Order: sequence, then structure tokens, then C-alpha cells
Amino acid sequence: MAEVLDLTEDLPRSALERAKSLLEAGELVAFPTETVYGLGADAKNPRAVAKIFEAKGRPQNNPLIVHVAAAEGARLISRFDDRAEALTARFWPGPLTLVLEKRDTIPDIVTAGGSTVAVRAPDHRVAQALLQVFDGPIAAPSANRTTSISPTRAQHVEEELGEFIPLILDGGPATVGLESTVLDLSGSEPMILRPGAIVRSSLERVLGTEVQEKAGTSSTPKSPGLVGRHYSPKTRVELCSKGAVIPSGAVVLVREGESVDVGPNVTVRTLPEDAEGYGRELYDALRWADHQSATAIFITEPPSTEIWTAIRDRLRRAAHAL
Ligand code: TXA
Ligand code: MG
Repeated sequence: MAEVLDLTEDLPRSALERAKSLLEAGELVAFPTETVYGLGADAKNPRAVAKIFEAKGRPQNNPLIVHVAAAEGARLISRFDDRAEALTARFWPGPLTLVLEKRDTIPDIVTAGGSTVAVRAPDHRVAQALLQVFDGPIAAPSANRTTSISPTRAQHVEEELGEFIPLILDGGPATVGLESTVLDLSGSEPMILRPGAIVRSSLERVLGTEVQEKAGTSSTPKSPGLVGRHYSPKTRVELCSKGAVIPSGAVVLVREGESVDVGPNVTVRTLPEDAEGYGRELYDALRWADHQSATAIFITEPPSTEIWTAIRDRLRRAAHAL
């Protein structure tokens, strides 16, 4: 079973050294980021990276995100252009992943044999301290089994991967709660492959050009990980309008201030009204809902404004499970 180190109050050097020595030995370490918890391995060690795929049950054709402390580290593993410089100066550390041409420093297994690498500098004190102590790139997908919900708390990681990994760093609940925006800069047109907290208009303002957004649930996604099932609970998810009639035996997630017409034996969980608060709690709420032995999970449709884009995307994927 995984050892869980509580780093919510302080960050002792001994904890970081323990994590560092495991990474150096080619072992996996789960760590918190501001988006979701990551399952980390030394990005330069193909055997260590192979353990990530094994622990997650992840298909080998789905490339991983490489984490660095700052742009300086990213330039060593990818080819930065002016667009990458401008975006990272504005948004790093933060929930923005860039897909760029890779350098030979990164082994093929990380990028699933592709010529591009996804890089990100996380904005979390534990992730930053770990990256600085380890002093090298850390490959880390979300620390969940493939097809399950990304973990936003150490306990989520423990439930799902505890038996497969030696160490989980507990840095408290993730403050963003949804995976990073993935922006592909490897082509001539910047393209959002996965929406996240950094929205399209913010990227366009920095780039001074239009940014394309990939349609939600393509059957041949450019990011193989971006299929519907990825964000799904096991219980059927259905989106509904506020005021909808919720059948007996279901659970329903509503936004603060909304009401639904509930049948007998329906459990209601209320999520914050604002996108930031809602995003932070969504995955915990989905996990909770999935544990209720309910007949279905109903979720009221979120607003259609830009800040809700990532939430709408994840809810649609959950509802359109393959
Ligand atoms: O917020 C996040 O991004 C979290 C934290 C831990 O940093 N990580 C995360 O990783 O969500 P993962 O592996 O669960 O999702 C990464 C997504 C996948 O859909 C993958 O297919 C895509 O990014 N991706 C990775 N490398 C890529 C590449 N070279 N080209 C296109 N897509 C890529
Ligand atoms: Mg994931």
C-alpha cells in the first residue's frame, strides 16, 4: 500500500527527499497540482514511465504530459517559439499545457512515439518543490485508472492507485479541480485540444491571433486520451434542465440557487454557483455520486458562457460515455 505524506500544513525536506529518491530509483510518486493529482515518473527513464502506463491501465498510444518547474526546463525538452515564450511568460506556472516539437532528451514512450511533447509548469507549492528538488522533468498523467475520474484529493488517488504505487504526497484539495487547457502549438494554427481554466479568449489576447478549438467528442481525437469515457463515472450520467423531474432512485447535482423536482428517494448535492467553485468540486461530487448506488446521476446544464467551457466539456464527456 502507498505511504501517504500529509503536506497540507508544512513541507518537510525529508518528504521531498523521499519522493526524490523514489523518482531516481525509477518508481512512481503521486503528487498534487492545482488542476488534479498527477502520477509522476522520471520523464527521462523509459522503464519508470512504463510503470505509469501499467498502473493506470493506459494504452501506450496515449502520450503523457511532462511537468517542469518553469519555462527554462521546458526549453530543454521542447522547441519554444515566440508564441510559447509569450504564453508561458503570462500563464506559467498555471493550468496551461503546450504541445510543442520535442527534443531528443525525452524518450519515445513519453510521447507515444510522436514528434511532439506536451509540457506544463504546475502552480502548486508541493509540485514546484518536488520539481526543484528532483531537478528534472517529471512525466505525469492524472493519477487515476484510465477511463475513471481525475483525482482532486489525495484520498481519490489512494482509493484507485494505492495498491500500485509506493508514495502519495497529500497537498490538500486541488484549487482548480479540472485538467489543464491543452494547446497544440505544433502546427501553424494554435488549437485547443482540451479546454481548461485558461480560456480561448485569454490565449487569443496574448497571441494576438485566433485560436481554434477542437470539437468535443470526435471519434478520432488528436489526443487519444480525449475520448468520452475518460471523464466518466460508472453510473449513467444525464444532463437535465433546472426544474426537471428527477426519477426515484437517482442522484442529482444542481448549482446553488437552482431547484429540481425530485421524486422519492432522490439525493441532491448542491455545487457552487460560480464556475471556479463548481470546477473545484465537480470531480469530488461525481465520485461521491458514483458511490451512491443510484440508478442515474442527473446534472443540471451549466451556463453557456466562456468560463464554463471546460465544465461543459467534462459533463458532456461524462454524459456521452462510450
Ligand atoms: O492538468 C493536467 O494536465 C493534469 C496534471 C497532472 O498536470 N494532467 C493530465 O494528464 O490531465 P493526462 O495524461 O490525464 O491528460 C493529458 C492529455 C491526454 O489527453 C493526452 O492525450 C494529451 O494530453 N497529450 C499528451 N501529449 C500529447 C501530445 N504530444 N499531443 C497531443 N496530445 C497530447
Ligand atoms: Mg487523465
